[in-house]
Amino acid sequence: MSQVEKIEKINAARKAVELINDGMTIGLGSGSTVELFVKELGKRVTEEGIELYVIPSSYQSHILAVQNGLIVTDLFQVDEPDICVDGADQVDRDFNLIKGGGAALTREKIVASASKEFYVIVNSSKIVEKLSMPVPVEILPFAFGYVKRRIAELGGMCMLREGTGKLKPVISDNGNFIADCSFESIDTELVWKLNSIPGLIEHGIFLSEMVDAVIVGYSEGVKVLRK
Ligand code: A5P
Repeated sequence: MSQVEKIEKINAARKAVELINDGMTIGLGSGSTVELFVKELGKRVTEEGIELYVIPSSYQSHILAVQNGLIVTDLFQVDEPDICVDGADQVDRDFNLIKGGGAALTREKIVASASKEFYVIVNSSKIVEKLSMPVPVEILPFAFGYVKRRIAELGGMCMLREGTGKLKPVISDNGNFIADCSFESIDTELVWKLNSIPGLIEHGIFLSEMVDAVIVGYSEGVKVLRK
């Protein structure tokens, strides 16, 4: 991550921390911007003695939450968190997102949907005219061949994600495959078609109806974009 990118992410994360009050339950996304957000929350816990509850969307954010003094809970205890804060890989002008660069898209979509409000925190390069990157997709391994064929029938190309530190493929925190699927165009119709494929557990297109605001970090400050 470049220094500029890091400053932008810190600025976005600090702005989101202003939305948080004592006793709140926060749906916690994943990724490097969320990591900065958690560290800022941790400072408030130490300095102000407040209690903050979080529902993490990945082992990454779970571990960070514990390390920073946040109280981890779950959707059994709290079925409607007060707010969800998460990063994104791309954000278009209408607030549609692509997420899942960190393979945590399924739980991220669940905590964002479950929460009263969903705030997205990004550095400025994440804002794009049109969603254009391959869509991360979580697939039940048993169904992989079938899901791959259905995606090809939609004109897409599905590549199993490979990581480092483990022989391929990448396995999600839920024990499933992650694939990155390229499509000619990404729109609501594609979302409906992907939603109807058995074995395709979730995809990383988050439609704007889920999003309340996007906090965009710049070197010199932030812009809060509301619908
Ligand atoms: C995790 O699966 C992703 O959805 C992340 O939210 C996204 O990749 C943003 O990551 P960074 O904050 O690291 O840029």
